[in-house]
Amino acid sequence: MTASPKISENLERAKEAVRLGRSPRANADMGIPPRYGGRTLGSFAFDVEAASRRAAFAKEALLRGESVFLTGATGSGKTHLAIGLMREWCAENLKESDEGRLYHSKGPPLFVPSVELLGSIKRAWDEGASEHAVTERYLRTPLLVIDDLGAEKASDWSRQVFYLIIDRRYRDRTQVIITSNLDMGRLTKTLDDRVASRLCEMGVTLGTGPTDYRVEGRMAARQRPSPLAAEGRDGGIIRGEKVSAGGEAISYSTEERNGEIHDRRGSGRAL
Ligand SMILES: Nc1ncnc2c1ncn2[C@@H]1O[C@H](COP(=O)(O)OP(=O)(O)OP(=O)(O)O)[C@@H](O)[C@H]1O
Ligand SMILES: [Mg+2]
Repeated sequence: MTASPKISENLERAKEAVRLGRSPRANADMGIPPRYGGRTLGSFAFDVEAASRRAAFAKEALLRGESVFLTGATGSGKTHLAIGLMREWCAENLKESDEGRLYHSKGPPLFVPSVELLGSIKRAWDEGASEHAVTERYLRTPLLVIDDLGAEKASDWSRQVFYLIIDRRYRDRTQVIITSNLDMGRLTKTLDDRVASRLCEMGVTLGTGPTDYRVEGRMAARQRPSPLAAEGRDGGIIRGEKVSAGGEAISYSTEERNGEIHDRRGSGRAL
């Protein structure tokens, strides 16, 4: 049965909201951290065409049912890309019932930093809760995004946890997106060759390169002309005094640094 145009428009809008990070509920369900709330595949700038082609290739592989391993330097965009890909997967699998109810045809995906994944299992263990119940979440979610694999201090226990999760997902043919500062070779040494070997077979690897966009972004912002200075306000700093609701005189300064506006309140003095 074909959906009515109105219902189908609703589904399209919902997919778009998930893709663009405009659905707070979807963001929360997927476990996307607030800093990455607006990060999407579309907001990722590809400086070289080859990088853009590789990302498109990773997206196609993910939507075909394969896993994705993202490796590169700190700040090179691994988490950003992982979240963008996760959103695309989620939007793709958003469906609508005949009654107009929206649902995930495969179930919702889950984002978790590797250190938090280990912490949640350990906490359950310490609190006498079922370690099994926590682990099951990571085993059952149809798409698990493990951020920063290898960032944790490796121990026999952590190696065992990751082996358990990856091996089970390998056997079940359920997908993962993994980000890591380590390439497969170093992951083999740090973690477990059985984990690395499975990841290789489960899907595609995408390198995000050596550039730290946290630093690059700051540098680019620093080189832009100051918006305050452009308005002729000396040195990009405005100083003044205003009266607070409590009748205090508050000295303040508004300063433009590195392309960002910083408001600083000075100490208040009673009028
Ligand atoms: N190609 C890009 N286009 C736009 N923004 C980018 C790009 N690459 C990175 N960024 C931005 O730079 C910041 C760092 O990116 P991100 O957190 O994804 O890096 P990372 O590779 O996961 O780093 P780490 O290894 O430290 O976790 C984020 O704000 C992200 O949105
Ligand atoms: Mg990261």
